[in-house]
Amino acid sequence: MRPFKTPGLDKTMCGIVGYVGHRPALGILLGGLRRLEYRGYDSSGVVLLNGKGLEVEKAPGKLSALEERLKSHPLSGRIGLGHTRWATHGGVTERNAHPHLSCDRKIAVVHNGIIENYAELRQGLRRHTFSSGTDTEVLAHLIEACYRKLGGHPLRAVTMALERVRGSFALGVVNADYPDLLVAARVNCPLVIGLGEGENFLASDIAALLPHTRRVVPLEEGETAKIDPSGVSIFGPGFARVKRRPLEIAWKADKALKGGYRHFMLKEIHEQAQTVAAEVQGRDGGLDDVRLPGNLQRVVVAACGTAWHAGLVAKTAIEELAKLPVEAGLASELRYGDTPFDRRTLTVALSQSGETADTLAALRLAREAGSPTLAITNVRGSTLAREADQVLFMRAGLEVGVAATKTYTSQVMNALFLALHLGRARGTLPRARFLELLKGFRRLPGQVERVLERTTEIEKVARKHARGYDFMYIGRRYNLATAYEGALKMKEISYLHAEGYGAGEMKHGPLALVDGRLACIAVAPRGRVTEKMVSNIQEIRARGGRVIAVATAGDRLVASVADRVLEIPACEEMFSPVLAVVPLQLLAYHAAVSLGRDVDRPRNLAKSVTVE
Ligand code: M6R
Repeated sequence: MRPFKTPGLDKTMCGIVGYVGHRPALGILLGGLRRLEYRGYDSSGVVLLNGKGLEVEKAPGKLSALEERLKSHPLSGRIGLGHTRWATHGGVTERNAHPHLSCDRKIAVVHNGIIENYAELRQGLRRHTFSSGTDTEVLAHLIEACYRKLGGHPLRAVTMALERVRGSFALGVVNADYPDLLVAARVNCPLVIGLGEGENFLASDIAALLPHTRRVVPLEEGETAKIDPSGVSIFGPGFARVKRRPLEIAWKADKALKGGYRHFMLKEIHEQAQTVAAEVQGRDGGLDDVRLPGNLQRVVVAACGTAWHAGLVAKTAIEELAKLPVEAGLASELRYGDTPFDRRTLTVALSQSGETADTLAALRLAREAGSPTLAITNVRGSTLAREADQVLFMRAGLEVGVAATKTYTSQVMNALFLALHLGRARGTLPRARFLELLKGFRRLPGQVERVLERTTEIEKVARKHARGYDFMYIGRRYNLATAYEGALKMKEISYLHAEGYGAGEMKHGPLALVDGRLACIAVAPRGRVTEKMVSNIQEIRARGGRVIAVATAGDRLVASVADRVLEIPACEEMFSPVLAVVPLQLLAYHAAVSLGRDVDRPRNLAKSVTVE
């Protein structure tokens, strides 16, 4: 196979699932797709191999459209593949949905990624009949051509084909001549194999495997695998056999169910008291197995989206407690910028999924420059976890909703712990203060619980403002991040116009937006900047804006200037981002529900952004 370091690659964000074993495959494939649907929901499809050969069903739109078709036309077979698509090449149509078949309909392929040289490859396959406008279909025909040339050898046919392919891919292949064999391959896109008894599985991520197995083997870059009901063989570049111990995943399968909640997002918001408690447990003594490098001069945090907001909290906390300068960079900017990385710069890559393309690229850049790297991620076996020098695993468990909620508070918790331990390691945080902060950490789970008890009140505020208002979220210091995060939650699931802004920046322009149709959410818990926030609130009120403040319980000053207060329990300023974000998650959630939005699957988005 080609070298796998291909900087600058684009990737699609699809989900793949595969099964081979003794059970009917269709239900397993559909169950897996349901758990992967957050990776893309433009179209979906399945292929099963049975006595009639390969049978395919596909449908544009959400998975429910495919399920509907399969009700009247179920497919049988004990081996098969499924795919859920986030379109890049080719429109959202049935013919562009995966799986794609070879001309003789004996080889079927599902693919997550991009085939950069597909046009050139297609030229060389002129005798083949193409039936879609996708880059993926070229793989089915290319593998068919190699298979014929080799006179068989389903695995070698795949590796031979991939030698000619430029791009990134995770793929699953079935071949009608081999009714017990799935072939898988990965370059730059995630793929995990699940190990069962007399059955084995394949999926883009662990979530799809959980109902069946917690023993997984992640495929690494450039590897191919032969998967049959009795075992799995993995091969590295040059066809060298690879031995890898399976990982045992602690996540529970029921995390992939809504557990009585209307949406995953609501369930995940409510899980935060437990996930914050899980983050606190056993963290007094150190940062799990992480050994912080000495002699550091600075820290660079690389992240995207919500994770970047947690990165901003990391910056404020590390600068306060460890007295180290921190750059919290958007990974998409860092990867093409000239930020100096070196041996004395600790690079912290923050990513829930551990698969975000830009964050991985920034990490690789830092590593190449000799910077020690630390990943903070939720997913064991993810690319980020494997490539970083050290890993701090979040303890949020599986998150299904596209909008990050519990993984945000977990990221913030880990960022704070990192700051705390850096402070201790550098001698800038006295022991007495360290112990005091630890006490504050232990109070957080109960405090999150208290915020969650206010759901009904927040729902009322959300319903009142969901129609007819634009939103401006403002904050300072630790809660600048909360303002950004609150606004992101609102826009991504309700599609309402919401901006996050530094409160001190309002006079530099955004104040012009203030009128009776602007709802301003001021994140103003007790801390170094409360009084500054109070002035900013007054300036907005004086211009006819409506202000809903997130403030510390009993804070009369903030209450006296805001139209409405959403209270959070008293805590150290440093901990307030964990508490203050919860009412904002609920506000966005209830606004979106009252507008009838698809909360768990917002339009145009996918949970794992493996496209740059
Ligand atoms: O998996 P990551 O933490 O790297 O994901 C980063 C962003 O794509 C993610 O946080 C995104 O912004 C969320 N959907 C926001 O809710």
